[in-house]
Amino acid sequence: MSFSYKSNDNVVQSIDTEDNFPISFEKIETAAKQAMSKSAFSYIASGAGGEETAKKNTDAFKNYSIVPRLLNDVSNLNTSITMFGHTYPTPLLLAPVGVLKLADEQGDLAVARAAAKYDVPYIQSTVSSYSIEDVAQATSGSSKWFQLYWCNHEEISFNMVKRAEEAGYEAIVLTIDTITLGYREKDLHHRFSPLALGYGQGNFESDREFLSSLSEINSHTILQGIIDNINYPALNWKHVKKLKESTSLPIILKGVLHPEDALQAIEYGIDGVIVSNHGGRQLDGVISSIDALPDIVKVVDSQVPVLFDSGIRRGIDAIKALALGADAVLIGRPYVYSLAVGGEEGVEQFLANFLQDLQTSMMLSGVKNVKELCQLNMVGV
Ligand SMILES: Cc1cc2nc3c(=O)[nH]c(=O)nc-3n(C[C@H](O)[C@H](O)[C@H](O)COP(=O)(O)O)c2cc1C
Repeated sequence: MSFSYKSNDNVVQSIDTEDNFPISFEKIETAAKQAMSKSAFSYIASGAGGEETAKKNTDAFKNYSIVPRLLNDVSNLNTSITMFGHTYPTPLLLAPVGVLKLADEQGDLAVARAAAKYDVPYIQSTVSSYSIEDVAQATSGSSKWFQLYWCNHEEISFNMVKRAEEAGYEAIVLTIDTITLGYREKDLHHRFSPLALGYGQGNFESDREFLSSLSEINSHTILQGIIDNINYPALNWKHVKKLKESTSLPIILKGVLHPEDALQAIEYGIDGVIVSNHGGRQLDGVISSIDALPDIVKVVDSQVPVLFDSGIRRGIDAIKALALGADAVLIGRPYVYSLAVGGEEGVEQFLANFLQDLQTSMMLSGVKNVKELCQLNMVGV
């Protein structure tokens, strides 16, 4: 298989690594950098502030080491997990990433199709480039979740949840760490806002509650309306309660870093939490996600699933998060770069490689299934 991409000056070039899709995260990232405009790549790659947390997210993995158990006959490997009444063949999900048209014209459609091929649930963002209905139509029958940014006009939130439910989505992820956009120095430097450029309007331009909230409907009011709606610093536990009451789908909070917030979520009847710092894109200086995980796993004490997000780059990272007690992990930037490099085929190839890495790493850790992974010894520095 040969991969080509459009370079910054729109000239089609082939990737300089073995003429195949790059294997390592670092090479995929480099190829994505070559394939995209400077400001678009920087939007995806960068973190908030001085990027201390973005860096810490991956660095901190090195502080945890696996102590494998050997001679355990791992010839019948089972990577499946069961969550919220569904059995998924792998403990992986694709994290919600908005404005995906920035990476490839087919955006969410390409990613959802690639995820469907491997039965990896795709979490679609509120600010996706295509609508819930478009994605559902492109991938009927595959597992999909919907990520909600609470909207200033709350009827829009409830309507989007209803649309996801009607389209057969299996869960709602409420992102709680983005009540306002993080202070992203590089985007400010490039004066770059993909939302203002119209890359994230798929769910809004098709939402009757959103359209009826506008005094006038034109491209300017739509784009401004989206930005005004998802900036919602008033978000609090009362909204969580209302959301829970509004749908029969499981509600999962994304962005939990403090054990007390995880406990409070359970008190409010929340069905799961995602330990995440948004890939270091929101508040710089916060704890790395992997360092936050063990204390949350401990207090949650298996009452609800604990998912992990922020910093997964290769199979062994997933193994470490699962060994520290996560029930499943979310992959973010690696699939976005793969999309930029090779479109749908690129995401497929990345997933195939990641799954191979995951299986190999599980076997070499001496575990036969994801449950056994949690019993694996981990040494922290
Ligand atoms: C370009 C980009 C856009 C994102 N958009 C969203 C979004 O719309 N909703 C959301 O909850 N998280 C969003 N995220 C955060 C991801 O869901 C995930 O938390 C983050 O990518 C994890 O960090 P990692 O990719 O470094 O592992 C976005 C991340 C990136 C890189």
